Amino acid sequence: MAKKQQDENGPGHVSAQPRLHQRAREIQSYGTVSHMLPLDLEEPVRLEMTEKLNQLLADTMTLRDLYKKSHWQVAGPTFYPLHLLFDKHYDEQVELVDAIAERIQLLGGVSLAMAADIAETTQIERPPRGREVLPVQLSRLLDAHQIIIGQARTLAGRASQLGDDGTNDLVVSEVLRTNELQVWFLSEHLVNVPLVETKEHSMTRGSA
Ligand SMILES: [Fe+2]
Repeated sequence: MAKKQQDENGPGHVSAQPRLHQRAREIQSYGTVSHMLPLDLEEPVRLEMTEKLNQLLADTMTLRDLYKKSHWQVAGPTFYPLHLLFDKHYDEQVELVDAIAERIQLLGGVSLAMAADIAETTQIERPPRGREVLPVQLSRLLDAHQIIIGQARTLAGRASQLGDDGTNDLVVSEVLRTNELQVWFLSEHLVNVPLVETKEHSMTRGSA
C-alpha cells in the first residue's frame, strides 16, 4: 500500500489531483541580494539600497492603510469630499508601494509584503482601532507624510552618492513628489478660515 501511494505521488505520475499543502525552504532569505546581476551596481550598494527601500516600503504601506482607515471612518460636514480625497491618495500610495517593492526585487533583494512584518518595521505611530475626529485624522496623515518625506530626501541623496540613479529617480520623481503634493492637499484643510462670513465684514457692517 505504501509503495502504491509513493508511485502515485512520484515525479513521473500523471494525475488530475492538485498537489496541496506544499511547503519548502525559502529560495532567498530576507535581507540578502542576488550576487550576480548585470546592473553595473555592486552588491554592497544593492544591499544598502534594498534595506533602505524596505523601510520606505513599510512606511508607505502603513500610510496607504491609514488613508483607507480615514476614508472609511471620516465624519462631519466635509465627509463627502474628504471621503473621496482620502481614497484618491490611497490609490496613489498603492502605486508607490508597487514601484518601491519592484525596485527592491529588481535590485536583487527581497521586498517586505505581509502586514505583520510591516507593523514590526514601520516608524509611523499606530492609531487606535476606533474613530477619531477629522483634525486628528489629518494630523496623523501629515505626520506620516513627514516621516516618509524625510526618509525619501535622505535616501535620494545616498542613492545619488552611490551611483544608483534608478533609485534616486524613483524616490524623487515618484515618492517625494507624490507625498509633497498630498501634504499640500491635506494641509489646506487645517487652515482655520471662515466658511460663510468674515469678522472684518461683520465689523464693517457694525460700524456703519
Ligand atoms: Fe470606498
